[in-house]
Amino acid sequence: MAGYKVLSFDKISSTQNYAHDMIMGGTASDHTVVCAAAQYAGRGRYRRKWVSHHGNLYASFIFKSPERDPRLSYAVAVAIVDTLASYGIDATIKWPNDILLDGKKVSGVLIEYAGRFVIVGIGINVHSNPTVDEYKTTKLDKYAEIELPDLLSQLAKKLDKWIGAEFDSVRRFWMDSAMGLNGLVKYRGEMVELVGINDSGALVVRRGPEYFLVHGDEILM
Ligand code: BTN
Repeated sequence: MAGYKVLSFDKISSTQNYAHDMIMGGTASDHTVVCAAAQYAGRGRYRRKWVSHHGNLYASFIFKSPERDPRLSYAVAVAIVDTLASYGIDATIKWPNDILLDGKKVSGVLIEYAGRFVIVGIGINVHSNPTVDEYKTTKLDKYAEIELPDLLSQLAKKLDKWIGAEFDSVRRFWMDSAMGLNGLVKYRGEMVELVGINDSGALVVRRGPEYFLVHGDEILM
């Protein structure tokens, strides 16, 4: 994993929590990745729990980030799709950065800012997929034979590639991989058309003749 400092654990509470503790304790540096074979308190978005048995990928990447950047979550989603493409797997993105195979979630991303860093937490179901009430899940080994260390190092490379890329190319890749573009989504209780993302990372939606921008987690698909 060229350019990364890797910390690996068998089982910890959450790689995300460990990364936070490193930042708060002053021991974090840019391009540190905390990985665990399993987590007993894995966390997802919306305060959901992320079931984390052995056999899947659980990693939190620490990058220097003096400011919040709404474009980051798109670059991360694109990096995961590109990683899977390197194994011949064709994934789609559900806004903003859930990764799906045949409509079922295979990977999730939790982005948290702390101090002068951002923590990009990525979970990928490889050998098992939990049953979750809110959505359907799947796992990579139904699609290809994948070794976890190889997956992690591919992912690290693709993160470097896409986080460092011009946003225009990220946006084009994201739009090519996004599900539901030009379809209807729910925004503040009404149905609007999902048009795409603009060059600062805001979501563009259309209601009749009117186009407007949406930030944050306000879209339901
Ligand atoms: C989601 O809800 O879709 C985001 C899931 C993020 C899970 C990853 S696994 C590695 C890192 N550690 C955590 O506790 N959560 C993230």
